[in-house]
Amino acid sequence: MLTKLLPSTVATAEATADPAGVFLFPEEESLISNAVPKRRLEFATVRWCARRAMGALGVAPAAVLPGRRGVPQWAPSVVGSMTHCAGFRGVALARREDFLSVGIDAEPNAPLRPGVLESIALPQELRRTRELAWAMPEVAWDRLLFSIKEAVYKTWFPLTGQELDFTDALVSVDAVQETFTARLLPDPAGLSPAGPTSFSGRWSARDGVLLSAIAVPARRPAGSTHGDAPRMCAAGSIR
Ligand SMILES: CC(C)(COP(=O)(O)OP(=O)(O)OC[C@H]1O[C@@H](n2cnc3c(N)ncnc32)[C@H](O)[C@@H]1OP(=O)(O)O)[C@@H](O)C(=O)NCCC(=O)NCCS
Repeated sequence: MLTKLLPSTVATAEATADPAGVFLFPEEESLISNAVPKRRLEFATVRWCARRAMGALGVAPAAVLPGRRGVPQWAPSVVGSMTHCAGFRGVALARREDFLSVGIDAEPNAPLRPGVLESIALPQELRRTRELAWAMPEVAWDRLLFSIKEAVYKTWFPLTGQELDFTDALVSVDAVQETFTARLLPDPAGLSPAGPTSFSGRWSARDGVLLSAIAVPARRPAGSTHGDAPRMCAAGSIR
């Protein structure tokens, strides 16, 4: 499912069940030794996916350990992102020379708990989410908004090391094309952003799972007149 959401030069690997006997590196094993079974399974399976994605890129298999704020630490030559939710584990990995950052998120296609949407959505997002929920109830649009914001954060944080609140990004979803854009709102203190401020990506709702994915190309296409900050793109295209 992930592969359809990202450029072909991004390696993806995913699982909808947890295989038995997954190998973990000793340093990963020691992180998870006291975890509850649910956490152990998602941790192990997503790292099994990571090793498959490393193999697809020709990168030697390596442990994936959490860095500051839990950010996955990859080999210097690659950038990537991991996600897990009930019934889905996934990884997207790309060569650093091709992409500045990648962010993916998976969520069950089920509504958020009451009150959560109001705490993560800007007024425009709230209106649009309610319109879409009325028109196309087969997608949990509130949960999709949450997922897109998580994907934005997972793309942004490895690049900048900065936190983002849910209301720092204004998300616009194209329900027909299954794409989205997200724009970081200006910092109230007037600080310059440490990374790109405009993101675009793709989403899907299949088999009970919502997916959101962003890949930021490392280079602007020849002839682009955009400013210095790269803009986040889906399928390798600048919009
Ligand atoms: C970190 C966070 C995004 C994880 O999302 P989640 O839906 O809870 O969990 P997922 O299963 O999708 O992703 C978990 C994986 O995210 C990755 N991750 C954790 N912290 C991360 C960070 N700071 N940056 C990038 N990736 C991170 C890890 O690989 C983790 O897997 P692991 O614990 O097995 O190593 C979320 O918990 C969080 O802190 N969100 C608040 C910030 C935010 O989203 N703001 C919105 C801004 S618009």
